[in-house]
Amino acid sequence: MVNHHFLLVIFPAQGHINPALQFAKRLIRLGAHVTFATTVAAHRRMNKSPTPDGLSFATFSDGYDDGGFKHGDHDFVDYMSELKRRGSQTLTDLVVSSANKGRTFTCLVYSILLPWACDVARELHLLSALLWIQPATVLDIYYYYFNGYGDVIRNIPDPSFSIELPGLPSLTSRDLPSFMADLNTHTFALPLFQEHFEELGKESNPRVLVNTFDALEPEALRAIERFSFTGIGPLIPSAFLDGKDPSDTAFGGDLFQGATDYIEWLNSKPSSSVIYVSFGSLSLLAKNQMEEIARGLLDYGCPFLWVKRANENGEEKEEDRLSCREELEQKGKFVQWCSQVEVLSHPSVACFVTHCGWNSTLESLVSGVPLVAFPQWTDQGTNAKLVQDVWKIGLRVTTNKDGIVEGDEIKRCLELVLGNGERGEEMRKNAKKWKDLAREAAMEGGTSYNNLKAFVDEFGEGPEGC
Ligand code: UDX
Repeated sequence: MVNHHFLLVIFPAQGHINPALQFAKRLIRLGAHVTFATTVAAHRRMNKSPTPDGLSFATFSDGYDDGGFKHGDHDFVDYMSELKRRGSQTLTDLVVSSANKGRTFTCLVYSILLPWACDVARELHLLSALLWIQPATVLDIYYYYFNGYGDVIRNIPDPSFSIELPGLPSLTSRDLPSFMADLNTHTFALPLFQEHFEELGKESNPRVLVNTFDALEPEALRAIERFSFTGIGPLIPSAFLDGKDPSDTAFGGDLFQGATDYIEWLNSKPSSSVIYVSFGSLSLLAKNQMEEIARGLLDYGCPFLWVKRANENGEEKEEDRLSCREELEQKGKFVQWCSQVEVLSHPSVACFVTHCGWNSTLESLVSGVPLVAFPQWTDQGTNAKLVQDVWKIGLRVTTNKDGIVEGDEIKRCLELVLGNGERGEEMRKNAKKWKDLAREAAMEGGTSYNNLKAFVDEFGEGPEGC
């Protein structure tokens, strides 16, 4: 086992870095060495907590080493093309120079949006695997889109019409990844996902490790015969999951700075009384949408903790200040960033109003906290569908004709999720059930533990071991 040395190549976004760091810790617990590589700018920004033995960091370039990609200043299509060009070159140099120093990598694991990393691995005769940081259901939908169902998906006649894809629940247009919608403006995305499948198709033993667990998505994990999808999640710090390592209380690579006084504030609140509100690390809501959320929270009347990220300069502009700020600050607390896993596991938190990024969804599920699902883009509509209709641990908000979720709608969802009615009770009961099943999967002998161990045994020794 001492020779097993994994190189993780990770896209520089919080939603990718967090599960990948947790994946690294799991590999180390199984006796492997891990080098975690992301871009120069992201590595510099990462707020690294003490590094576990067996984990080292390395970087590759995206051509934006000084400050990284900035929305508004840079074009994302240009960025992705530079990332591929410079990234492939500097990653190759990293693998070669490491081997020259006697530290040979035995397997390369790359996260989504970096399909070229698979090509780099093949050129260097390294085994590789894709770390899929979204649900298996979303992976299947992309696969179907490029393999026989593209026309069906593109020609959904109206929003109430549902399509059937093998092994998946019925899906309407709002349940599909946003990149498949007619109005999608992120044109870079679909070709990248297509490239992922093309790269996997060139592998003799293609492997996709999915941040999910067998009991959560049993059919979706088995739906595509051509590729082997392996559930190895949820990738959440051990202290909040299996408890095996109580000192593992954070992912360890935050890109944002935040307050520290919110735990004290949560401690001062009664059990199951606080609404936690956060939209992840990328989405920024329009001012009128935030005003509606504020109204919904104030009308509902419970205390709330709301993560309102600052703009890229770290400031709140005067025009972004919410109109009923004083009333809001009396009832709730605003932070620019927090330790979300710590917040969700706090006994005073009752419900999570979330954009349904996959990490946020899993973190809520692992903490047994029901959700109000407020998806924005990418996989979040599908995640919201799973939350509401498959796992039944939350409710999805409905937008008005202008695409805004009104305050009354937020209040209605909170009343249903937290109220004493049958539906609320069912959601809270299911949240508890999935929390227990997630723990079971992660514990020694559980499905995700066994799946990861089998992967390490098979891929960890490098090509000769296979
Ligand atoms: C992105 C995509 O938007 C998401 O849909 C996809 O599934 C993963 O990549 P992001 O929008 O940032 O991610 O959301 P999410 O997946 O929820 O990841 C956010 C991470 O940041 C979570 O691990 C969460 O715990 C952490 N976080 C967020 C904090 O630690 N503190 C905060 O204040 C907010």
